[in-house]
Amino acid sequence: MKKIFLSLAVIVSICVSSVAQKSVVPNHEWFEDARFGMFVHFGPYSVLCNGEWVMNTQSITVSDYHKLQKIFDPRLFDAKKWVATVKEAGMKYIAFTSRHHDGFSNWNTKLSDWNIMNTPYGKDLVKQLADECHRQGIKLVLYYSLLDWSRDDYSFTTGRTGQKTGRTEQKEWTSYINFMKAQLTELLTNYGEISGIWFDGEWDQLPSEDSGVAVTHSMSKVDWHFGEIYDLIHKLQPNCMIANNHHLAALPGEDYQAFEKDLPGENVGGGFAANQVVAKHLPLETCETINSSWGYSLRDNKYKSEKELIHLLVRAAGYGANLLLNVGPMPTGEFDEISVSRLQYMGKWLSSYGQTIYGTRGGMIKPQTWGAVTQKSNVYYIHILNKESDVLTLSFPENIQSVRWLNGSEKITWKQNKKSGEATFNLNNIPDEIDSIIEVIFKNK
Ligand code: GLC
Repeated sequence: MKKIFLSLAVIVSICVSSVAQKSVVPNHEWFEDARFGMFVHFGPYSVLCNGEWVMNTQSITVSDYHKLQKIFDPRLFDAKKWVATVKEAGMKYIAFTSRHHDGFSNWNTKLSDWNIMNTPYGKDLVKQLADECHRQGIKLVLYYSLLDWSRDDYSFTTGRTGQKTGRTEQKEWTSYINFMKAQLTELLTNYGEISGIWFDGEWDQLPSEDSGVAVTHSMSKVDWHFGEIYDLIHKLQPNCMIANNHHLAALPGEDYQAFEKDLPGENVGGGFAANQVVAKHLPLETCETINSSWGYSLRDNKYKSEKELIHLLVRAAGYGANLLLNVGPMPTGEFDEISVSRLQYMGKWLSSYGQTIYGTRGGMIKPQTWGAVTQKSNVYYIHILNKESDVLTLSFPENIQSVRWLNGSEKITWKQNKKSGEATFNLNNIPDEIDSIIEVIFKNK
């Protein structure tokens, strides 16, 4: 009897330790310091100039949609130019759609013919981008759709989208899971360092966020095998960070938390993220579109203004989050002119004020209607985005040593109550329309 107990104890302890050993924590300092990255949605849908959901929104069948394989020909794609634009914008990483919901793979995958090599273009986009990112010191994250509007082994019968694609025969779910694992293995084996995998689409198998139901992972109609998939990623590249845009509480193994069109905790992103709770233990990222579309859309002229974009970046940083700003390249493979000029503006702004964004953490208070605070060691940066009054009063935990406007030589008047830590700044001469920044230095302890 004793022997049985002993061997049971051994088995239990082996199981427990094998779980514990799996917990890999990738190096994420670069990510938290980066604060600004580019999201790129690009694929056969770009040809139709109507966003990346066009297959679903226009109820295009798989057989019709796949005709795009003979048409998608982004001859003007130039990885060098893309990465140069990213750098000029002051961005530190790219998140690129390796495979979106239409199931098309932008790389030389051996797992499916529905890929870039079988287009007239015929060259591996992921490879070119990865090589160039490595060359120019930009990190590469790969977006990977969990849901698939093309494959028969994706559980389309239980999915919320992709119902009008003409698929009739529901094939084995395990084959789909194995397919994803094999594709991720390719991406994490053949392209050098990949800094992150950004999943999207779990929500396809969950009740709608608009339905009023408090959605949880356990309501999923399928088993995604996330544990195995995350372990596989961390085994192949221990420093590869995992994000999953499920709009729900973070799962074990996820290394940063993604917010879609919503700053962390604001929960104003429409149906998305209505109840997404901010994870205390994870780095954060908010993704947003430069106009209102992810994939290129011909009639979308709703570009955010330069001012709106700077405010977004600053407010994200005030929350301690990165801004992942999306650009949908034209079918030719080039970025459109307006996007490029917005990006150049941001890059210029960052070349003057980057020290208030890069490498900072969120300030002692969350962003407010008047602006946001960022912090780096003994310096606080108070960003006045919308002046609401002539004075601003904030409480600081330490004694202030010096205060100045970063964007002008005007003097700023201020005083601090040493007992309460409360400081008052006079804003009657704010120097900048877009962002007036007060640099507050504390005495080094
Ligand atoms: C949504 C959309 C998708 C887009 C993503 C970016 O989940 O389905 O098209 O890629 O948001 O955050």
